[in-house]
Amino acid sequence: MNLAHHPVDSLTKEQAASELARLAQVIGENRRAYYQDDAPTLSDADYDALERRNRLIEERFPALVRPDSPSASVGSAASTKFAKIPHRMAMLSLDNAFTREDVNDFLGRAQRFLGLPDTALLSCTAEPKIDGLSLSVRYEKGQLAYAVTRGDGKEGEDVTANVLTMADIPKRLANSDWPEILEVRGEVYLSHQAFGALNQAQIAAGLPIYANPRNAAAGSLRQIDPAITAQRPLSFFAYTWGEISAPIGDTQVQAVANLAKWGFLTNQDMKLCASADELIAHYEDLGQRRGELGYDIDGVVYKINDLALQARLGIVTRFPRWAIAHKFPPEQAVTVLDAIDIQVGRTGALTPVARLRPVTVGGVVVSNATLHNEDFIAGKALDRVSGLPVRGGKDLRIGDHVVIQRAGDVIPQIVDILLDKRDSQSAPFAFPQICPCPLATPALRGGSDVGGEEEIVRRCTGEFACPFQRLRHLELFVSRKAFDIDGLGPRQLQDFFDQGLVKEPADIFKLAGHRDILAGQEGYGETSLNNLFAAIDRRRDIELSRFIFGLGVRHIGETTSGILARTFGSWRTFFDTVKRALADRSGEAYQQIATIGGLGPVACDALLDFFDEPHNQEAVERLLLEVVPRDAPPPVSDSAVAGLTIVFTGSLETMTRDEAKAQATRLGAKVAGSVSAKTDLVVAGPGAGSKLAKASELGVRVISEAEWAALIG
Ligand code: IVH
Repeated sequence: MNLAHHPVDSLTKEQAASELARLAQVIGENRRAYYQDDAPTLSDADYDALERRNRLIEERFPALVRPDSPSASVGSAASTKFAKIPHRMAMLSLDNAFTREDVNDFLGRAQRFLGLPDTALLSCTAEPKIDGLSLSVRYEKGQLAYAVTRGDGKEGEDVTANVLTMADIPKRLANSDWPEILEVRGEVYLSHQAFGALNQAQIAAGLPIYANPRNAAAGSLRQIDPAITAQRPLSFFAYTWGEISAPIGDTQVQAVANLAKWGFLTNQDMKLCASADELIAHYEDLGQRRGELGYDIDGVVYKINDLALQARLGIVTRFPRWAIAHKFPPEQAVTVLDAIDIQVGRTGALTPVARLRPVTVGGVVVSNATLHNEDFIAGKALDRVSGLPVRGGKDLRIGDHVVIQRAGDVIPQIVDILLDKRDSQSAPFAFPQICPCPLATPALRGGSDVGGEEEIVRRCTGEFACPFQRLRHLELFVSRKAFDIDGLGPRQLQDFFDQGLVKEPADIFKLAGHRDILAGQEGYGETSLNNLFAAIDRRRDIELSRFIFGLGVRHIGETTSGILARTFGSWRTFFDTVKRALADRSGEAYQQIATIGGLGPVACDALLDFFDEPHNQEAVERLLLEVVPRDAPPPVSDSAVAGLTIVFTGSLETMTRDEAKAQATRLGAKVAGSVSAKTDLVVAGPGAGSKLAKASELGVRVISEAEWAALIG
């Protein structure tokens, strides 16, 4: 009888015994696959579920706990490739929390154990749980003595020769106030970038590729030949310690700060929290930013900050009582691809969208996923990070069982197809060759940049004749960063468009003339029409940058529109220069536009191509009969931040990020999206993460929001 899905509550004693035997075997096999062969056969979530089930059964039938129970050990016995070294202090694992309740239970247990009231505050650190492999590095008199993997927690593998090749691990401790004996413990991992490069190299050498960064890190650390490890850019975050001959701090925060002082990288996203709410807030924030960290994390670790309390709490079997891992919900799920819809973008690009049978992934219900373009569907597109064909080159068919992945804020992706579940009658997806709009215009692939985006995208050739493209243009025109017209969104535009009332931007300003037609229609009562017309009238006076952005010129986004507005100051000057550039594409006016900082030749050509079309120029002229672009204030050149390149990161408290950027730009600074050697200043608010880390790595000056306010007066 298969008991695998039997609820724990309804198992008889005999059934429980046989389940425990099965679980000991399955968990054992999976640990060997994961820890020794670096080739897991189960997802982390499925594996966690097995461990959890084993524990629940053991809790119900304590008498049945087996001598070889997986709950009594961690990891897997060290393999025979490397010499074994016993740990002087066991390397523990962490208990898991999956829900907010589990987190409250953890804090409650600690309070009770310490004899504290349940209202007592227990400050905890919260830090990313890095998905790598743990390592213990022993220092004697400041000198690296040896390095050991976790193994089964009692003894691990001697990987000293390999660890000596890792740049993140000091051979000698920095400064001098370290204890004579110090075992530094932390996580060895590969960044996404290093992982992609490694797999590319594996392919070039005709070797098998690694399934994920964790396996690649494990495989890289456990090379027999240290020269191979040396070529793999393994990273290391220090987060705890083993044997120490003297205390290294009173708190977790202090101890970790000391590890940093002695030469280790520690995680910038560790946060000290005073309540369960704060822990959960940090967990949620990291969950959101998970896709941007540049390395894999699978949860957040909470640790009681006070080391004296940690010592009193001690351990239960293989977990400390003073720490817990709050895991993220599984970020992969299997579902069925029900249909592929084709959407037409503003520039005519036909974009396929997957309609999926709704499924929960990473805690949210997913029913759509982007499919990018036809090569992506055919399995011919290359993955950005790994450079390999997506989904191992498998083509995607309607009815397929697909694996969906979603990490934090990242848009859901179809990362694999279960071919053994594919219907034998299924056929490859035939990507449409004509635009799905009523005009059914041919949609062509092409463009000059072979292999680039233009080559891959299929575009409707109808341009302004294509009603879908017109509508997308209008949507951009009224959007928040362009004309931002209250009460006029995609739904209303569609209504007005279908009735032939709005065909181009200028028509929006003539809508009030159609009051009779609209009055009484569903959703257009007298008050809402009054409000709508008033909102439209308020935008007859419009900032030049919004006006330019609203035209929807390809490659001219919000930032570029702002640069153009500030550079030319007025519509007249801007448009005169464009006209002169059109008359002579290599003349002075052309040079003037093409050399504007931040513009670039692609955007410059797109701008001129736009105005080269008579119907575009005419539409702009009709719009100018309705609205007046306001001259842009000249940039301030004598402010404290004029000419500096600034990056804002984290959350700001007195203003939104957009306001801060606008303010900086007005003061003559350049606002950048990422930190590089060219960055002069980083303004960091709470929750700042990888950008802050990058700034400190590059030695870029970092200031707080308050210091920013003081700086600009
Ligand atoms: S503390 C006694 N902190 O997760 C506590 N562990 O599932 C020792 N891990 O064996 C661990 N990130 O390999 C700690 N920030 C972090 C971690 C972390 C990843 C790993 C570690 C541990 C496993 C437990």
